[in-house]
Amino acid sequence: MSPLLRFSFYGIAVSFYLFSALISMSTPSPEKRIEQLRKEIAEHDERYYRNAAPVISDFEYDLLKSELKALESAHPEFSRENSPTKIVGDDRSRGFEKFSHRVPMQSLDNTYSEGEFLDFCARIAKEIPADKMRFLVEPKIDGVSVSYTYENGKFVRALTRGNGVEGDDISRHVVNIAGVPAELKPIDGKPLPKIVEIRGEIYMRTDEFLRINAEREAEGLEPFANPRNLTAGTIKSQNPEESVRRRLGTFVYGLGACEPAGTFATLSELREMLRAWGFPLTDFCGNALGGDAATEKIRELGELRKNYPFPTDGAVIKLDSLALQRKLGEKSNAPRWAIAFKYAPEQAETTLRAITLQIGRTGKITPVAELEPVEVAGTTVSRATLHNEDEIARKDLRVGDRVIVEKAGEIIPQVVRFVPEKRKPDAEIFSFENELKKLGIEAERPLRLIDPAKPEKGTERAVAWYVKEKDTPELRVRRLIYFSGKTCMDIPNLGESVATQLVERGFVKTPADLYALTFEQALLLEKFKEKSAKNLIDGIEASRSRELWRLINGLGIPGIGEEYAKILAKKFRSLSALKNATEDEVRDALIKGEKSAKGSVLVANILAFFEKEQNRELCEAFVSAGLNTEIADAGTDESAGTEQIFEGKIFVLTGTLPSLKRDDAKKMIEARGGKVSGSVSKKTSCVLAGDEAGSKLEKARELGVEVIDEAEFLRRIGERAPENSAPENSASDELLLF
Ligand code: IVH
Repeated sequence: MSPLLRFSFYGIAVSFYLFSALISMSTPSPEKRIEQLRKEIAEHDERYYRNAAPVISDFEYDLLKSELKALESAHPEFSRENSPTKIVGDDRSRGFEKFSHRVPMQSLDNTYSEGEFLDFCARIAKEIPADKMRFLVEPKIDGVSVSYTYENGKFVRALTRGNGVEGDDISRHVVNIAGVPAELKPIDGKPLPKIVEIRGEIYMRTDEFLRINAEREAEGLEPFANPRNLTAGTIKSQNPEESVRRRLGTFVYGLGACEPAGTFATLSELREMLRAWGFPLTDFCGNALGGDAATEKIRELGELRKNYPFPTDGAVIKLDSLALQRKLGEKSNAPRWAIAFKYAPEQAETTLRAITLQIGRTGKITPVAELEPVEVAGTTVSRATLHNEDEIARKDLRVGDRVIVEKAGEIIPQVVRFVPEKRKPDAEIFSFENELKKLGIEAERPLRLIDPAKPEKGTERAVAWYVKEKDTPELRVRRLIYFSGKTCMDIPNLGESVATQLVERGFVKTPADLYALTFEQALLLEKFKEKSAKNLIDGIEASRSRELWRLINGLGIPGIGEEYAKILAKKFRSLSALKNATEDEVRDALIKGEKSAKGSVLVANILAFFEKEQNRELCEAFVSAGLNTEIADAGTDESAGTEQIFEGKIFVLTGTLPSLKRDDAKKMIEARGGKVSGSVSKKTSCVLAGDEAGSKLEKARELGVEVIDEAEFLRRIGERAPENSAPENSASDELLLF
């Protein structure tokens, strides 16, 4: 579809939405509807900014907001200062130090239509002459806003937007982000600003997002919704190791406070200086005189962005001149000199052929939309998760419906809504319970805390269904695959097909049975020859000596992922000590006395797991099978307890480190699963740089490779989770109370 056609198509779509919203409004009065919308938007804000777990697409959210805006301007008597249309969201979280922004961080008005963009230009044209209307058109990065403060050239801190006035200090994550200089050097003899707040975005590349999701899915965990949420979750994670493994990037594009004022006259000048200082900037930055030229740039970017490796959700169009920006000023939550043009997500209509139920490793039942294959944003979509029963009810999806499909963050397929005028009169309301009955699945909906920050009774809600019978062949297969996965026992060649056969042939019921598998049995597996049978048996053998945390992770205790498994291993040092631990001991190990509700759920899950006889037997079977179920005393076997935090990472050492000898640093990296190489390339994960680091450091900067100093290196390999902070749980979707 040509861009123009698409824009008008979305113009129609937006009008359709507004129109249907108006129709549905015929029942509630404008005042009631305004109230409803404010409440609904506030709930979505909470999910988006604080929990990084939205349940509607950005497009749907923007529609709610434009409906509210339209109503508020038609009925100014109901206008309120604290309406979501007038304030920026709030991402502040517990456990972070707060700092004020010297200049508040605002949000941006947005539009999906070229017509509205031209209206914006016309408003500006009333105040400034046409020949001064020079715009920059940049990609709108779909990440998390950040403000980097430098004082006399030294990095001081990085803050999130927070509530716009003050933000959370996320500096410790910034060392993991390639391209944020620790120090700014004067360029061409120009003095450094005494204070400068540099505004930008932290993001995750699409391939990194897909990598992490693939890993999660292999482990039977729910995938993340989109890169933005994963970025937000990562920078708000209390666990630095977790963020080290998730690669983040940053782009900078703007200015907050700057002393002395007048250091920069235009954004273009600022960009040049930022580039010279070493910050990453987007390649595309269209320079356009007037609205029509800017529209051209918006269209151009609309095509180019499809091939960007990072997520974008629009274009930001802003006046280049800082003096003119000041002249135009700002509203309560957004500047008048800039606007975001959002590209409506590419959508397609198709038929919902069926809703199937998928059972995960823990027995969780996820409904899946089986769709008539349809092309959306470059790929064919035939399935999409429907998340849970409530989501199906909220969207009132029925088998046989024509539905609109889009990709969240242009990556994950999602069913947005059904097409009402195409619904068959006999379309039946989907009943999850009936479906379970039809399939003969006995299931339950255990209560789960909705907001771990509010542990009061009554805040729990049943969201997902779980099968009651946890020992079916399907679940045995799922557990086996999980147990053999990379973050557990890491047994190569034990994927879906082998696991299914092992269970079907009755060779393996529990993961412990793997260790009694014989070469002869392996030979019986489909397509298995001597070599493949030997490889499988060798892989199983090798896994006997894996670190204790891997075995603990492999148990599949709900909510206990890699991070917590490591903490438990370190604390209890043997599987039997963990198995026999008291509630206080487990609580103490996990949350160091902090009575967080999330912690309580995890403690309950661990205790419930080890209370079950079959799980205790499983642990004993692991011991009898000769697995490594202990960490040897410190000093006798160091590597057994060393967490492989650098697994798969390639380091380059350069310059003189203040206290470590190079050889020691190398050993420390290797003991943690990393490799050390002599030269910097695209494959390098991290450069550990000391004083007088020369060309290698430059090369790293050029390639955007992460650079850390010795202090940061030591921090990463040193004591983990600070006192009183439980790490973010990587398997939070599975926090259940059994
Ligand atoms: S300029 C608000 N430029 O979009 C002051 N913002 O929805 C002007 N964003 O809070 C912002 N890419 O976090 C600007 N190239 C870009 C951007 C960008 C992403 C974010 C930014 C802002 C949000 C508004």
